[in-house]
Amino acid sequence: MHLSRAGPGAGEPRNRSLHRARGRLAEAAHLLVHPSSRSYTGRAVASYRVDLRSDTVTTPSEAMRRAMAAAEVGDDWFGDDPTVNRLQERAAEVMGKEAALYVPTGTMANQIGLRLHFRGTGHLVVAEATAHVATTEVMSSAALSGMAFKTIRGDRRGRITAEQVQAALAPDPEDVEVVDLVAVEDTHGHAGGRVMAVEDLRAIAKVAHDHGVPVHLDGARIFNASVASGVPVAEIAAEADTVMFCVSKGLGAPVGSLVCAPAELIREARRLKILYGGAWRQAGILAAAGLIALEEGPKRLHEDHERARRLAEGVAEVLPGAIDPADVETNMVFVDTAAVGLDPLEAIGRLREEGVGATYVAGKVRMVTHVDVTDEGVRIALEAWRRIAAR
Ligand SMILES: Cc1ncc(COP(=O)(O)O)c(C=O)c1O
Repeated sequence: MHLSRAGPGAGEPRNRSLHRARGRLAEAAHLLVHPSSRSYTGRAVASYRVDLRSDTVTTPSEAMRRAMAAAEVGDDWFGDDPTVNRLQERAAEVMGKEAALYVPTGTMANQIGLRLHFRGTGHLVVAEATAHVATTEVMSSAALSGMAFKTIRGDRRGRITAEQVQAALAPDPEDVEVVDLVAVEDTHGHAGGRVMAVEDLRAIAKVAHDHGVPVHLDGARIFNASVASGVPVAEIAAEADTVMFCVSKGLGAPVGSLVCAPAELIREARRLKILYGGAWRQAGILAAAGLIALEEGPKRLHEDHERARRLAEGVAEVLPGAIDPADVETNMVFVDTAAVGLDPLEAIGRLREEGVGATYVAGKVRMVTHVDVTDEGVRIALEAWRRIAAR
């Protein structure tokens, strides 16, 4: 049987038009799966000359690969994996908490962290409106725990105030709304990798604790916050009852995140990890890389921040009005191409054609520097932006 198909557009070679249609379909499918974040991951994964889509795209270093090959392992379900146990002990020590639990993803770490404080279906978590837990993960919280969010609109830095939290925690005179938890994020991803001032965090934590409400810190990039602000991670983490951080982001490990908390909560966290299907047996193979990431990663994050700033300055030169380099505090660069009349998805497509990976976040083009982005990578990306601006 012969199926007739729609022909290519006038004057356009058939396979190019098919290729375009497929690209649009892939984009549409992605947006359909992620309607709230509208994140855009691009397609030509293997062919990027410089991949700035996220700090999650890093590949393990030679030292990590050697440590992974030689890792002592055991069954982590039973708590028998010595390398996982070492990573957990070290993470707890670095964060200044009693204990820690190594889990596969940042999402699982947050979901466990939130659930530890959660007391009843339909209860509320107070968070900034664009926080990861209140956007990308909101479905996970609903599906896994029956949580809902009471969101606070932050400023353009993603900053919320203690007064806003105080208002959100005011008791409901009708006794219906119950807030179990305040969740904060540092650095704040949607706001461009912004650092939360530790005094702000302290004031928010005080208000929460005065109301008898605990605080969970999504510290996926807490080391970036610490390096940028000069405040030790343990001093930031001290304000929160539970904190999670990722070794799989700027620190450069291939996989994993840690939930850090008092030992009693970590016992329950282990139960939740098993409940959520995260008991990953001989995970020491991954923890071995995590240990190197935790020791070595923070020492070089300032380089990512410097490169991000240089990238921002370069883009500001070729596209004035699309970015203020002073907004770049850590490893994220958000370019508001729409402000200068360039559709962000089109800009991302053009960057991809130039071999530069970027994503669509918060209506802007997002680029993230990481261990695999060199000075040459920044130069390549800026060349691409120059050509895009000149067209
Ligand atoms: C701030 C923040 N929290 C949590 C997560 C979730 O981490 P994962 O992708 O490992 O689930 C992310 C992921 O990008 C994030 O940016």
